[in-house]
Amino acid sequence: MGKASAAQELSATTRISYAVAVGVLVFAVARFVQRRVLRQGPPAHVLSAPTSVYIRPVAPREQRAFTKEELASFNGVEKPSIYVSVKNVVFDVAPQLYGNGAPYHIYAGKEISRALAKSRVDDVLCNKDFVKDVTSKEMDTLDLWFKKFEGKYAVVGWYVPDDTYYITAPTE
Ligand code: HEM
Repeated sequence: MGKASAAQELSATTRISYAVAVGVLVFAVARFVQRRVLRQGPPAHVLSAPTSVYIRPVAPREQRAFTKEELASFNGVEKPSIYVSVKNVVFDVAPQLYGNGAPYHIYAGKEISRALAKSRVDDVLCNKDFVKDVTSKEMDTLDLWFKKFEGKYAVVGWYVPDDTYYITAPTE
């Protein structure tokens, strides 16, 4: 009787141990499934985005054409948005660099390719053709600037040159 009850007691303990072990196992599997299988990761387009370039988290915008006059109104004075055109692509640029009183405000609301190619912060070279009388070295400089703008700013449209854009007389 005593022996039998000891055996019964032992098997009861063993059963409890099994129950605990099974409970722990079920919990561990549930946690694994929760973490690995049901995990809410970033969407696929974020995971597949290249990490070597900085991408501004902005929604795509509808793009439009800008004449010289239209672009000029985006100089950060009349309205807060500041646009600049490089190689006739119009970018939404940083107010810290182009805003009123900022170092490159003279470029704000303008096509600035010729000035960038010739490394000059000068109004005379703005809204002017960037092909005529531009050396291949200057064009390389401009291409580097374009890459910088492309990697940094959102594109909002394209620049439509007018008659004053084309250079007919000798240039600086
Ligand atoms: C003494 C010479 C110069 C110094 C010390 C200088 C310095 C700087 C600095 C510190 C920035 C800010 C960079 C950033 O925050 O990403 C900048 C931006 C800029 N610089 Fe200069 N700069 C000089 C000459 C020039 C010249 C000659 C040009 C003419 C092409 C120029 C065109 C620009 C432009 C367009 C930006 C803004 C680029 C952007 O939007 O990210 N800089 N410069």
